[in-house]
Amino acid sequence: MLSPHLDQPRYHAVLEQLGRPGSRELLATPALECDLDRLDANIAAMSTLASAGGVQLRPHLKSHKSAFVARRQLRAGASGLAFAKLSEAEAVMAHLDDDDERISVLLTSPLVGVELTTRARALARNCNLAVVVDAVAGVDELASAFGTQGSSLTVLCDVDVGLGRTGVVGVDHARRVVERILSQGLHFGGVQGYAGHVQHVKGRDERRAMTVATSERLAQVINALEADGVTVELRTGGGTGTFGIDVELGVLNELQCGSYVFMDRQYRDALGDDDEGRFDQSLFLATTVISANHQGHVTTDAGLKSMATDAGAPSVWSHEATATYGFFGDEQGLLAGTGSTWARGDRLRLVPPHCDPTVNLYDVIWLVRDDVVLDYFEVVARGCSQ
Ligand SMILES: Cc1ncc(COP(=O)(O)O)c(C=O)c1O
Repeated sequence: MLSPHLDQPRYHAVLEQLGRPGSRELLATPALECDLDRLDANIAAMSTLASAGGVQLRPHLKSHKSAFVARRQLRAGASGLAFAKLSEAEAVMAHLDDDDERISVLLTSPLVGVELTTRARALARNCNLAVVVDAVAGVDELASAFGTQGSSLTVLCDVDVGLGRTGVVGVDHARRVVERILSQGLHFGGVQGYAGHVQHVKGRDERRAMTVATSERLAQVINALEADGVTVELRTGGGTGTFGIDVELGVLNELQCGSYVFMDRQYRDALGDDDEGRFDQSLFLATTVISANHQGHVTTDAGLKSMATDAGAPSVWSHEATATYGFFGDEQGLLAGTGSTWARGDRLRLVPPHCDPTVNLYDVIWLVRDDVVLDYFEVVARGCSQ
């Protein structure tokens, strides 16, 4: 049965023609298209790189928020799944319930308050749950919510490696948090150190130098805990911009990359031909020219509301050097360029500026190959930010 998101007049024509040549023309735009072959190639490539580098891969679901892509990542050998928010994990795990294996789930943002920690205990009944903490009070909240079930939960110490967003600051702080995890009878699983401020730094040398510094901060904490006799089994972090460097440096033994499945303009600009930039653009924003009455520009149906704009404007796929997109209001975009002339009704593809928050604007992503819409998947954790 179709979900209410799809059972709408604007989707009926394309749903009737799934798999047929030319069906892409029937997609109501703006729409997110995902090239299935590129998606699968990206999933396979990251999985191969991680195993060749001797690290586990726990893809971050903040990028795709879907059970469909998660299943493909798990089948390709992912050690588990990472989620930013508890409600994201609840939504996706409800769709992965039928899978045989208990999935390892990591929540990468600290939980605060009784409501969240109680829900986390409910989630832990159906998966192997790990959470991060960065405060002694956070450990106490987890211990009181989990009570006698405390041993079913793995707790990681989140370490601030320079981003300043979450994480304990310095070795002494880490020691206090880890001591409390142990004294509360919870299972201490290791550390998380996510260098979000490094992922989009342009130029591999610069990114590498910054990653050396962030890894050093994490290594100091690991060494101090191990000197105290505490085993630090899991060392998780990393992203699409630094995974190759993280493997080289060897401090992390698990990578949490997310954006590599889709890529976006921001990452393409930052990574260029670097090793980390090897992933194909698989996510596109399909748009249609709705007005072409001026010399020098046409107007399309994708404006501010159809993509996240924190990273600036999208690029125009296949016309990156000759055409530019400019925001033209909430619902329209302006296309200008020398290399191509567009006419009313033409369809083209934009490369979303930033994939994660753009995906969060859509209920459905259409799986395509050439001019065919093969299928679709739902962004089941769309809007799950709690
Ligand atoms: C904690 C954490 N881990 C991993 C990632 C994945 O990073 P990327 O999408 O750059 O691969 C993010 C992204 O913001 C994150 O916040």
